[in-house]
Amino acid sequence: MKARIVTLPGDGVGPEVLDAAVAVLEAVAERSGHSFEFESHLIGGCAIDATGEPLPAATLEACKKADAVLLGAVGGPKWSDPQAKVRPEQGLLAIRAALGVYANLRPLQVHPALASLSPLKNEKLKHVDVLFVRELTGGAYFGAKTRTTDTATDECKYTVAEVERVTRRAFALARERRQHVTSVDKANVLETSRLWRSTVTRIATEYPDVKLEHQLVDSMAMLLLTQPARYDVIVTENLFGDILTDEAAALAGSLGLLPSASLGEGTVGLYEPIHGSAPDIAGQGVANPLGAILSAAMLLRHSLDLDVEATTIEAAVSHVLSNGPHSRDIGGKAGTAAIRDAVIAALDDVA
Ligand code: NAI
Ligand code: MG
Repeated sequence: MKARIVTLPGDGVGPEVLDAAVAVLEAVAERSGHSFEFESHLIGGCAIDATGEPLPAATLEACKKADAVLLGAVGGPKWSDPQAKVRPEQGLLAIRAALGVYANLRPLQVHPALASLSPLKNEKLKHVDVLFVRELTGGAYFGAKTRTTDTATDECKYTVAEVERVTRRAFALARERRQHVTSVDKANVLETSRLWRSTVTRIATEYPDVKLEHQLVDSMAMLLLTQPARYDVIVTENLFGDILTDEAAALAGSLGLLPSASLGEGTVGLYEPIHGSAPDIAGQGVANPLGAILSAAMLLRHSLDLDVEATTIEAAVSHVLSNGPHSRDIGGKAGTAAIRDAVIAALDDVA
């Protein structure tokens, strides 16, 4: 197959980890006979420097025409003045909205070789295999904002249709996994959460084979630490999802390891590691590229329907985690390029 992939390296370590992910995709293409065409565009701080806009029109246009988009990270101290009118993160929110990618998928597993890096005891981490589905284009992040000298508001708004579509996505994914959905809200306090809960409960009846459980977000924050292995698919709104997924990421041992996919309905998928631009290590060639490489695997699975190739990349990553080399964030000494090369070499071992 032929596919056109737009890459948005962004800022900080973004370009370093994306280079590695593209190299792995090229190696997969070579081995499988597929042809991937890459086209790189600006987003975030580097786009602000070059054009004044965090999401230039040319970038958005290219993304809309692509089969999939692979993004590094945006932001950094250079652009983080809170008074600034234009900020790199606006580019990220704008592209998610423009592509209509309302469902953010974040899988979490804890590799046995890394369990010792996790703040939790080893036995709690056995069998952890969670898929977060975070609503990505609604809620407080996109609501009206007001500000006077001494008052600020952020409107949190959800429509039934917005909740329905992300819920259906979560249930469909659960069907392919362990048939269990946990919906997280704050229905004892928030009106948006009451709408969320009643909508999820109704949609669940379309999936009688999938079990539904509701949790309040505060108790979910605790349960993720005390019983992480109990959960299969966790679906929640934008703000709660942002917070819970970072909490869950800590269980895996390093932010550098975790991928994400943001999907809409028949639109272009957006794939990115969950970490930020890591300005403290940018430019040193030491960033862990595995989150970006696993995001590339998700791209193959969800946008190009190349499940076998995706699974091969995931197996190669697992092989490298078991056998080394390891990057600094997970206690090793290897740089980004060495990890990239080890994953590519492992593609042949696991095939
Ligand atoms: P961060 O994820 O960039 O870094 C947090 C810590 O994790 C740092 O110590 C960093 O060195 C380490 N780390 C992150 N990725 C790593 C990797 N691949 N390999 C090894 N170590 C890694 O989060 P932070 O420091 O809160 O934010 C830095 C900048 O990134 C800010 O400007 C923030 O706004 C932006 N950001 C961007 C995101 C995105 O583009 N999706 C997401 C989160 C933050
Ligand atoms: Mg976040």
